[in-house]
Amino acid sequence: MSKMAVNEKHGENSPYFDGWKAYERDPFHPTTNPHGVIQMGLAENQLCFDVVEEWIRNNPMASICTPQGLCHFRDIANFQDYHGLPHFRNGVAKLMSKVRGGRVKFDADRIVMSGGATGANELLMFCLADPGDAFLIPTPYYAAYDRDLCWRTGVQIIPVHCDSSNNFMITRAALEAAYKKAQEDNINVKGLIITNPSNPLGITLDKETLKSLVSFINEKNIHLVCDEIYGATVFNTPNFVSVSEIIQDMEFCNKNLIHIVYSLSKDMGFPGLRVGIVYSYNDTVVNCGRKMSSFGLVSSQTQHMLAAMLSDDEFVEIFLAESSRRLGKRHRFFTEGLEKMGITCLPSNAGLFCWMNLRSMLKEQTFESEMMLWRVIVNEVKLNVSPGSSFNCLEPGWFRVCFANMDDETVEVALKRIQTFVGKETDKAVKHRQSNLRVSFSSRRFDEAVMSPHMMSPHSPIPRSPLVKAT
Ligand SMILES: Cc1ncc(COP(=O)(O)O)c(C=O)c1O
Repeated sequence: MSKMAVNEKHGENSPYFDGWKAYERDPFHPTTNPHGVIQMGLAENQLCFDVVEEWIRNNPMASICTPQGLCHFRDIANFQDYHGLPHFRNGVAKLMSKVRGGRVKFDADRIVMSGGATGANELLMFCLADPGDAFLIPTPYYAAYDRDLCWRTGVQIIPVHCDSSNNFMITRAALEAAYKKAQEDNINVKGLIITNPSNPLGITLDKETLKSLVSFINEKNIHLVCDEIYGATVFNTPNFVSVSEIIQDMEFCNKNLIHIVYSLSKDMGFPGLRVGIVYSYNDTVVNCGRKMSSFGLVSSQTQHMLAAMLSDDEFVEIFLAESSRRLGKRHRFFTEGLEKMGITCLPSNAGLFCWMNLRSMLKEQTFESEMMLWRVIVNEVKLNVSPGSSFNCLEPGWFRVCFANMDDETVEVALKRIQTFVGKETDKAVKHRQSNLRVSFSSRRFDEAVMSPHMMSPHSPIPRSPLVKAT
């Protein structure tokens, strides 16, 4: 085996993937396995399949496997040009424009195909960096980036640490610190990668932040890769602002440094169709990337079907509006359910997940405690959620919980399980406090114990559980 193949960058040893395995061993089913693990670690958008299925039913000629579409079978089965079908690229360009509110136009000739955003991200790393070069990435970031960006390319990730003190905003100071540290370590920084909307945070970057990132990369003369695969999952204000809009309005920007990664895995809910896109403003990257797309071409059958679907303006508009509405409804239902139990999430407006704050449930503010709590949640509560450490979060106690890959009934079961867990933990916390009180009574006067600032102060150094708050 090559050294590259057997290095650990595939990332499959992380709890992110372990949780999936726990689900696979014992998957929840409402009737056949009602006590199984509920999969809340999978960022899939399954809320609008009925809308898509209706379109497919009404458009049988879009498939080469129906009597109506069979006449195209030979041409499509034989098609292998790595530029892709022109009407497929046009359809994708139109979709990308619609997702950005029609405020930007995309040139179909700049669209390079790849096997999902996974392939698109790797393709860009291959084009832009040599083994040992690095990309800055704000934390927390998508757990599989280590695999997608680094495993086969030898590229390194340099984390740009963001934290909850400003709701995980990316600051210029954090970027400069990461950049400076890399220089001190003699690492060649080739660029910055951002995920907007963010996985795992479910938030969008505002215009000012985006402008400052574009200025930063221009000043340093490094690349900016924007993974915008959650662009249409925005369900609440503020709206999604793409880097493409920002550079359109900016006076000074070297567009050769800007690259967008897109896919239909999240916005349309088609991760199995493996449609990934690199949209680069750099001609050399487009030309090189296109030669590489032979390694991960989107099947011509898929291109053919999607060309028809994405060119149907009315369908696309209805789908995008309905998907956003349903995601918003589901997000509200889930987060309000958690709030009733005293559990808060980072306020978010996008994505297929929420970023749940269980910091006050940790025994200690350490990643060991985070893993202990995670094991209880997976093995006893039987919910596969993903711990913040698998997204390289700097603060222990955050968990990503996916809510769009299941039906309403399953979400209700998940909420009930969390409530039962919260109830048990609250009982434990109350008993613990009572036994502490009894110890205090034996050595102190009653009023001293009850009125002690230690017990009463909201700034008590004893970590308060949200579970206790819930009672
Ligand atoms: C930020 C981000 N980028 C890329 C991917 C990979 O997407 P795809 O299924 O299109 O390969 C994911 C999947 O979860 C993701 O969250």
